[in-house]
Amino acid sequence: MYKILHGEKLADQIYLMDIEAPQVTRNCLPGQFVIVKTDEKGERIPLTICDYDRERGTVTIVFQVVGASSYKLSKLKAGDMINDFSGPLGTPCEFLNEDLEQLKKKNYLFVAGGVGAAPVYPQVKWFHEHGLETDVIIGSKTKDMLIMEEKLKAAAGTLYVTTDDGTYGRCGMVTEVIKDLIEREGKKYDHCVAIGPMIMMKFVCLLTKEYGLPTTVSMNPIMVDGTGMCGGCRLNVGNDVKFACVDGPEFDGHKIDFDLAMKRNQMFQSFEQEAHQHARHEGCRCCGGEK
Ligand code: FES
Repeated sequence: MYKILHGEKLADQIYLMDIEAPQVTRNCLPGQFVIVKTDEKGERIPLTICDYDRERGTVTIVFQVVGASSYKLSKLKAGDMINDFSGPLGTPCEFLNEDLEQLKKKNYLFVAGGVGAAPVYPQVKWFHEHGLETDVIIGSKTKDMLIMEEKLKAAAGTLYVTTDDGTYGRCGMVTEVIKDLIEREGKKYDHCVAIGPMIMMKFVCLLTKEYGLPTTVSMNPIMVDGTGMCGGCRLNVGNDVKFACVDGPEFDGHKIDFDLAMKRNQMFQSFEQEAHQHARHEGCRCCGGEK
């Protein structure tokens, strides 16, 4: 069993939790994920690691409620126990294999959309801790949906904030900020990391391809159970078939067939919504439960 040391609602349907899991903390690295199971019968939820504290032995996860299991997890609070917390899983970020001196010569641009700010954070933090400055763009639909701003501001060289409706920061999509930085401000980047909704990653990749800017994306959003067996996270990457939970979650974004991946992702959406509704009304007498 794993203890929740801290729980917090970051935005509508988005939650943060610090979990006591020293065996995960000992070895985890940016880019990796964990599998959470709230109770014995619960589903496995693959979640990218948002942060870790090796001294405290804690792992921070951030998740959005999309189905029954994430809904049940959101109802737990500090002091409650989680049945299973396995990891670290997946391949750590590629830049960790690079020579630090070579990496210092490169300019990295991080782009985070919505809940994608959570997996972007440990990467930006790693750069910061190694004395490397990065430009970071975070975007959300509205001001209320923006998460991790303060943490990213502390770790980024420069942070650019944008909201689709202009309620905070710049107004518009993250792709418009990328265009501004490269075309108007003349910024030069060697690598881009984009993590967020599939549609955002697709359009970031279409744009960065035009600039010839290598781009890494995280395909965590299409993972279902993280076992390597359900096939839910199957992807076409160039001419190869890959599984996000086994071969990723990070891939060369310019090689991914996003349309196919999004189609596959949508197959599970109605099932997840139905399960979420069912979980919300569990134990409800004449619908006197939470609606
Ligand atoms: Fe099931 Fe990858 S999530 S095979």
